[in-house]
Amino acid sequence: MERVGRRFRSCIGLPGIAAVFVVLVSSALQWHHVYAQQPGGLVVGYYQNNGLCDADVEGIVTSTVQQAMQSDSTVPAGLLRLLFHDCWVEGCDGSILIDPTASNPNPEKTANPNLTVRGYDVIDQAKSALEQACPQTVSCADIVALAARDSVILTGLSNQGLTLDMPTGRLDGFVSSAAEANSQLVSSQSTAEQLTQQFAQQGFSQDEMITLSGAHTIGVAHCNEVTGRLYNFPGSPNGVDPTLDPIYAAQLQAQCSPNPDPSTTVDLDPITPFVMDNNYYRNGVTNRAVLASDTAIFEDFQTQFASNLNSDDDLFWEQKFGDALVHLSTLNLKSVNDGEVRTNCRMVN
Ligand code: HEM
Repeated sequence: MERVGRRFRSCIGLPGIAAVFVVLVSSALQWHHVYAQQPGGLVVGYYQNNGLCDADVEGIVTSTVQQAMQSDSTVPAGLLRLLFHDCWVEGCDGSILIDPTASNPNPEKTANPNLTVRGYDVIDQAKSALEQACPQTVSCADIVALAARDSVILTGLSNQGLTLDMPTGRLDGFVSSAAEANSQLVSSQSTAEQLTQQFAQQGFSQDEMITLSGAHTIGVAHCNEVTGRLYNFPGSPNGVDPTLDPIYAAQLQAQCSPNPDPSTTVDLDPITPFVMDNNYYRNGVTNRAVLASDTAIFEDFQTQFASNLNSDDDLFWEQKFGDALVHLSTLNLKSVNDGEVRTNCRMVN
């Protein structure tokens, strides 16, 4: 298996080479504040390298995710989004996993954008297996990161002969606030410029933002995220967002009524909804992106070019996606001063 980020393809052409150059330079400029948490730092194989756990920590998480996928093929999408929403608010510290309590009735998971986040049970299962193997050793934040890694490998990167090294050594945080999540999580009504700014605030380049948006090649959106584009788009005579392909808009209307059942969903990528591939971009360039924020990336002059490159070359995108995911997984890590290893992922010790 090949490591993401360690391979350079000779056949991606000049635009691809130029884009790789831009990505490498911008990554080098932006990776400055990460990797400082448990004593010993964030490294691949943290627990084994530091003699903390003889068991195969990564393998235990992988087999938990694999088992969960067998009974529910939508699990990887839930776990991938879980990492994004965990890391975006308070950094990658398992803050999204905290359940409400009397003293903290509104933790992150009760925030509006998090009400549709899934995968908590899979994290619990992995945690319980790891507590058996090595009690009070492996952080919940690391389990979230490893589970996201497995989700992308098992659904697509491995098809391309890629694998992905996910460093570990994160600590779990004490703070979890719905108000913070509501104000910081990104809206599906954002313009490309707003997305670029919001990702820049967290240290990501515009290309990384475009690359990470490709996560929407798996999983679903609830109809209420889309109906505004299908029935009452401002200024449109028939109510349909004119940037949507009309045939695709009609397909979405067939799935989402004007007042949909709150639990009804549509696939973000109707072609291969369970596979990490560049169909998100291929759909996008043909006006078939489900979320308005995704369409924005394909419509905006500044983000179009990079999106087109990703639609042309699956392997090129997947390699960048792996790197960007690791970057995402290292946001604002907790230190021993403000972090711990939780025994139960749903509550601070
Ligand atoms: C660029 C800004 C982003 C916006 C505005 C956005 C917004 C959304 C929205 C509204 C949904 C539908 C949720 C639902 O109705 O259930 C969704 C789903 C999803 N998002 Fe994003 N997202 C963004 C970036 C990301 C990133 C960076 C990742 C991961 C790296 C990600 C992973 C996912 C996944 C996998 C799903 C499907 C979840 C499922 O099936 O349960 N998103 N996103």
